[in-house]
Amino acid sequence: MKKFFALLMFASIANVAAAADVVANAKAAKVEMCIGCHGIPGYKATFPEVYSVPMIGGQSAKYIENALNAYKKGERKHPSMRGIAASMSDQEIADAAAYYSQQTAQTAKK
Ligand code: HEC
Repeated sequence: MKKFFALLMFASIANVAAAADVVANAKAAKVEMCIGCHGIPGYKATFPEVYSVPMIGGQSAKYIENALNAYKKGERKHPSMRGIAASMSDQEIADAAAYYSQQTAQTAKK
């Protein structure tokens, strides 16, 4: 968790006010909930089976948005991600996508 806040600090300091908005929006979009699985390099989810969790930081916003919409519509089948995407509004999906697409600098260091 500490690390996550450090990343948030970095994001707000390193980028301009626009990025701070992205972070604020992303917080509203439940991005904290994604960190548990997606924020940990090499982490494997254990439900419903052991599964490598892809890194989403630094992907293009469009890619992340498309993936989330595909889970929401049931075109992509992973049960955890379907449940999560289904609970997100279009706005939350767009905000989360914008947030993760800005994480390039951090993820590149890992
Ligand atoms: C319970 C663990 C878990 C949580 C919480 C979680 N994810 Fe995922 N996510 C996964 C797993 C596992 C996959 C890979 C599933 C697959 O292959 O279809 C995945 C896949 C994705 C993908 C597709 C990545 C790709 O390269 O294909 C995106 C985008 C994504 N998640 C976004 C999010 C966002 C945004 C949140 C928070 C709102 C979130 N996830 C929360 C486990 C999780």
